[in-house]
Amino acid sequence: MDNDINEIVQGNGIETWQEVTLVYNAAMRQVQTKIEILNEEFQHIHQYNPIEHIKCRMKTPESIVKKLKRHGLDSTIENMVNNVNDIAGVRIICSFSSDIYRIADMIEHQQDIKILTVKDYITFPKASGYKSYHMIVTVPVYLSDRVVDTKVEIQIRTVAMDFWASLEHKIHYKFEGDAPQHIKDELVECAHLVSDLDEKMLSLNDEIIKLSSIVGSPDLNI
Ligand code: GTP
Ligand code: MG
Repeated sequence: MDNDINEIVQGNGIETWQEVTLVYNAAMRQVQTKIEILNEEFQHIHQYNPIEHIKCRMKTPESIVKKLKRHGLDSTIENMVNNVNDIAGVRIICSFSSDIYRIADMIEHQQDIKILTVKDYITFPKASGYKSYHMIVTVPVYLSDRVVDTKVEIQIRTVAMDFWASLEHKIHYKFEGDAPQHIKDELVECAHLVSDLDEKMLSLNDEIIKLSSIVGSPDLNI
């Protein structure tokens, strides 16, 4: 497996496995920092944090090679860089579904971030029931002698959607993608419950905001 990776030395300005690790790790940390700064600024302006937490992960060499094999591709650096969009992954977990588009919008407005693709599984959930907002972006990574535009997969979802996705992922993994039909059906049912919960929490929060603005108003003095 290590041979698979070390053998090959060719790619878009990225030539070795060590460089893949270096560049994608840098890109992932840059995106994480940008998002943390946006969250702090949002708190400063609106007195509210849209983001609950951020998770970052680098895809393991094993799973990169597995993905390339699945696509019928050799394990070359060039193939990794061109075909594996989730070597660096950043997952943003927020409280309310309305925060998802707010965060996506803030990311889109960052001048040095380029959006390559967007998959909106919030508006169009997967048949499994999966909901999340996916973006593949690039950020420039400044090395000593060049700048490498590097891809990062960003997933934005609510706490409830994240809870569902983790359980579904575990089940998917356990049954190697072939879970019994009744479990799949129950997962779809749970996904609906999650959507209902998200909607209820959002409308409750909206009501609390309205009430606290009335309570806070000196004119009404309630
Ligand atoms: P891969 O699944 O990574 O090969 O990418 P893709 O090209 O199919 O893209 P997609 O945006 O559909 O999925 C990207 C990532 O989203 C996956 O790697 C998972 O982390 C997550 N994801 C997508 N669909 C599901 C799902 O049905 N359940 C769970 N738990 N996660 C999912
Ligand atoms: Mg993936």
